[in-house]
Amino acid sequence: MSGPGLTVIGVPGLPEIGAGADLAGLICAAAPDLRHGDILIVTSKIVSKAEGRVVSGDRERAIDGEAVRVVARRGPTRIVETRHGLVLAAAGVDSSNTAPGTVVLLPEDPDGSARRLRKAVIERLGIDVGVIVTDTMGRPWRVGQTDTAIGAAGIAPLRDHRGQPDTFGNTLEVTVAAVADEIAAAADLVKGKTMQVPVAIVRGLAELVTGTDGPGAAALVRPAAEDMFRLGAADVLYERRTVRDFTAEPVDAAAVRRSIAAALTAPAPHHSEPWRFAVVESERARTALLDDMLAAWTADLRGDGFTEEQIARRVRRGEVLRRAPLIIVPCLAAEAAHPYPDQRRSAAERTMFVVAIGAAVENLLVALAVEGLGSCWVSSTLFCQQAAAGALGLPPGWEPMGAVGVGRAAAPPRPRPERDPGDFVITL
Ligand SMILES: Cc1cc2nc3c(=O)[nH]c(=O)nc-3n(C[C@H](O)[C@H](O)[C@H](O)COP(=O)(O)O)c2cc1C
Repeated sequence: MSGPGLTVIGVPGLPEIGAGADLAGLICAAAPDLRHGDILIVTSKIVSKAEGRVVSGDRERAIDGEAVRVVARRGPTRIVETRHGLVLAAAGVDSSNTAPGTVVLLPEDPDGSARRLRKAVIERLGIDVGVIVTDTMGRPWRVGQTDTAIGAAGIAPLRDHRGQPDTFGNTLEVTVAAVADEIAAAADLVKGKTMQVPVAIVRGLAELVTGTDGPGAAALVRPAAEDMFRLGAADVLYERRTVRDFTAEPVDAAAVRRSIAAALTAPAPHHSEPWRFAVVESERARTALLDDMLAAWTADLRGDGFTEEQIARRVRRGEVLRRAPLIIVPCLAAEAAHPYPDQRRSAAERTMFVVAIGAAVENLLVALAVEGLGSCWVSSTLFCQQAAAGALGLPPGWEPMGAVGVGRAAAPPRPRPERDPGDFVITL
């Protein structure tokens, strides 16, 4: 395939690659015309095979070992984030083009693989080349797969057009071309998975070949904070788990604000807005809240006749909030509740508002989870509303509805028990 100034050449004739193979030697032998300024595109499958990243056994277990986070799940398909920050189906674990009963993992460090390959080619031929290690990925919103750069060396992976004028003189604001991915995809047109051509050369883009290893394909991984699609839509609700142990990392105030904005979209009776949140940031407010709640709880337990030792053991359970870097106290402001002359309807009206704050808190917790923040909604203030309101100096009419500890989870959650909707539903 050729276009103006650009040629993409398949490199046939490579043998089946085994662990320990001298990939640079084999490629140089198969591509004797390799030239200074060329870009060598190598399928990760053969890099993995040369690096001994072939394992026998269960594919699902191999995926577990490679994944650091499940992004989306649909039936047996898992889109996961790998240690490298790549997001792809099955962590790139592949059972094609490998012996039955074995699977091929992605290279341990694809940028490192690209750097080693580049160095070996330079040593062998004395010419400078760029190297891209590729894998095949699906894309959200688009049918079909394309090849992508998962490792790179000696090539600028991105071409930043921001600040340049377009043909009409407008300044380009956002265009950063992922040239390493574009080259990987172009090379796939001549490589192909069934054609036994795992390597290609792109000639005519010498201006992208840098003469140093450069930032590698790691530069193509979008930072988490800029990722608008951290989770599949169907996976968002499952992401929230009660977290009882947190790291010391402070909680980002902007993430909390975004999560509270999500809480404010909850349904509520009479078009009312009964949700309030006390964000307990200061050490003074936090200590006052925790100490006054502890005193109220201790007084309750003494009233129940517990011994001091029993009391000490029980109140230890309340320490989850002390371990949380941030506490948010969700409150109910039920002034919009309608008055009724009878107890039945008054109680129903009250219940409506209580369930409405529950909906808002769940929204808050889910939104925090989407921000990567763990949470624990504990009853606490509900059992000593006056003491909690007093400790925090809450405005009149704010009724504390428990407390939410927020922070980064110190450990992954234990799996949820399987729940069959059939056990919870009657269909009439
Ligand atoms: C209103 C309410 C009060 C809760 N109070 C406590 C509590 O006092 N202490 C605690 O450890 N967990 C508390 N939880 C959290 C539950 O124990 C937790 O939701 C449950 O174990 C299920 O785990 P999951 O949230 O990870 O699905 C409370 C949850 C709710 C909704």
